[in-house]
Amino acid sequence: MRRLRTQVGIVGAGPAGLTLAHLLHRAGIESVVLEDRTREYVEHRIRAGVLEHGTAELLRDAGVGERLDREGIVHHGISMQFDGERHRIPLSELTDGRAIVIYGQTEVVKDLIAVRLQLGLPLLFEVEGVTVRGFDEDAPVIAFRHEDEEHELSCDVIAGCDGFHGVCRPAIAAALRTFEREYPFAWLGILAEAPPSSEELVYTHHAHGFALLSLRSPHLSRLYLQCRPDEDLDEWPEKRIWKELQARTALEGWSLNTGPILEQGVTGMRSFVAEPMQRGRLFLAGDAAHIVPPTGAKGLNLAIADVAVLAHALDRWYRTGDESGLGSYSEICLRRVWRAEHFSYWMTTMLHRISDDPFDQKLQLSQLRWVTTSDAAARSLAENYVGLRIA
Ligand code: FAD
Ligand code: DHB
Repeated sequence: MRRLRTQVGIVGAGPAGLTLAHLLHRAGIESVVLEDRTREYVEHRIRAGVLEHGTAELLRDAGVGERLDREGIVHHGISMQFDGERHRIPLSELTDGRAIVIYGQTEVVKDLIAVRLQLGLPLLFEVEGVTVRGFDEDAPVIAFRHEDEEHELSCDVIAGCDGFHGVCRPAIAAALRTFEREYPFAWLGILAEAPPSSEELVYTHHAHGFALLSLRSPHLSRLYLQCRPDEDLDEWPEKRIWKELQARTALEGWSLNTGPILEQGVTGMRSFVAEPMQRGRLFLAGDAAHIVPPTGAKGLNLAIADVAVLAHALDRWYRTGDESGLGSYSEICLRRVWRAEHFSYWMTTMLHRISDDPFDQKLQLSQLRWVTTSDAAARSLAENYVGLRIA
């Protein structure tokens, strides 16, 4: 058995865990990051692509924005398509110049892993059998196996950044109240070697179901289609995917660029919040504490906002002994979380085929016309989409 000691023990090397480790390092606080997957897997898990204004700013301020500024693509608007028309929402005009940056979550994760390893700071991949204990007695311990050896990591605080299927939330389940909604649909997402067909993102409402045009670079398109949660990918040969994307996004005088599909997968949709996001010396952050359906592009951004609050509170505690920031961590985060929960639910229910009832479709179309014609409604969408300021 190897005994180790650090200030903050971080479970999970996704965006939340890696960003937290980096922010703590900048504040002179030691941490150890434990990840159960391989580095290769974590760096290639294709997920989010939209960084809120404040997320990009935070990464820049933390000194990990160099490649983001070089390769990230700044967008000042998005479009909503319905009834065969495409309407642009000028995000920056409506939010005093704030914008989003298209930069894959995979790239954020690669940048953070690279800087951590360059600095020679502890980040262990392929750990097994992680368990947490002692957080109620001010003596937190994370036990795990690494390279066939048992380890115990003692720390002041445990950060549960281990995603929705991790071990930290279940460890405090008895103290939590959870709120949940599952949706009867999912997204079939593809990454294709094709130049983006639209410069900006297009969210499409269509009788067959939702579609989304996004991108990763001038040569890579990222596209999504609403499908069934139990959709069998074998029933979706490339031809069918392109045909369906073309049908849902069709517009006069415009065509969809196609190309080889490099990756495809189905993502379920759920809303989930666990309250409070802390117990004793264990703090949950990111998907470990909350999930949003992806339609509002909020998940990654929420994860980073949580750890910004946590890093700030820990910094104050270590510097001054003042625990108030840690005490209010959950309350501060949950305000933003619930705003994002509502926004994501609203975008999801406005844009997907939610039933066969024409009444629902009429309401959706009315809502879409309103957000694309009323300045007040468009501004409200834009303010949520570019993201609230990080507390
Ligand atoms: P995760 O990324 O899930 O990281 C958790 C880490 O913990 C993982 O590396 C995992 O392997 C590890 N782990 C789990 N269990 C253990 C354990 N027991 N021990 C050690 N390690 C463990 N969000 C947006 O903001 N914008 C978008 O555009 C967007 N689009 C999305 C599109 C798709 C298709 C999907 C699936 C998600 C999307 N999201 C989006 C959501 C976003 O990807 C997540 O919210 C984000 O990954 C959360 O980061 P996290 O660090 O909290 O969790
Ligand atoms: C992407 C994902 C989203 O959930 C979204 O709302 C917009 C874009 C993307 O992966 O590019």
